[in-house]
Amino acid sequence: MIELIRKRRSIRSFTNQPLTEEQKALLAETLLRAPSSRNINPWEFVLVDDQALLAQLATAKQHGSEFLRGSALAVVICADETKSDVWVEDCSIAAILVQMTALSLGLGSCWAQIRKRQHDQQTTAEQFVQQQLGLPPQLRVAAIIGIGHPAEQRSPLAAAQLQQAKLHHNRYAISWNLIS
Ligand SMILES: Cc1cc2nc3c(=O)[nH]c(=O)nc-3n(C[C@H](O)[C@H](O)[C@H](O)COP(=O)(O)O)c2cc1C
Repeated sequence: MIELIRKRRSIRSFTNQPLTEEQKALLAETLLRAPSSRNINPWEFVLVDDQALLAQLATAKQHGSEFLRGSALAVVICADETKSDVWVEDCSIAAILVQMTALSLGLGSCWAQIRKRQHDQQTTAEQFVQQQLGLPPQLRVAAIIGIGHPAEQRSPLAAAQLQQAKLHHNRYAISWNLIS
């Protein structure tokens, strides 16, 4: 896992090679194995591989969702907010897990933030995605993870680039340079 974590970077450019059914199944299995608070599993996942729909989702925001157009699969991470008050946390965990499984399969991925973002002046990005996918009103949309075969190489961060000042030892005032 640490080797995968060292390699992990957001990938926003993809080839047009589709995912195999096996890859899609492994990604789907990951989502359903995500831990959730009190095991409520408030999430719902819409897996989108329809190119026309991907092109629509790419316009969910004015900036930062364009890469979904070229992805092979977008995982729309939703949750029923009436089921859990910590649905955002539950969705975030499912999102990062599916990104790490994608990486383990040699795929690239990137997160597109939807919650708390605007589509345009009148419509939130969440409302836009809800309309596109026909989501019931209680289903909130946290994020969309775009996944595909990488068409860009991004260098891993060197250990020297890590922000060691963010590590503290027992008390905030005491820094801890653990990584050599
Ligand atoms: C909560 C969250 C929201 C993000 N939203 C977007 C987004 O809307 N569009 C995008 O292109 N990248 C998005 N990203 C990816 C970040 O920009 C990226 O993780 C960050 O710049 C660090 O780069 P790296 O992932 O390559 O290490 C998001 C990441 C997180 C964790």
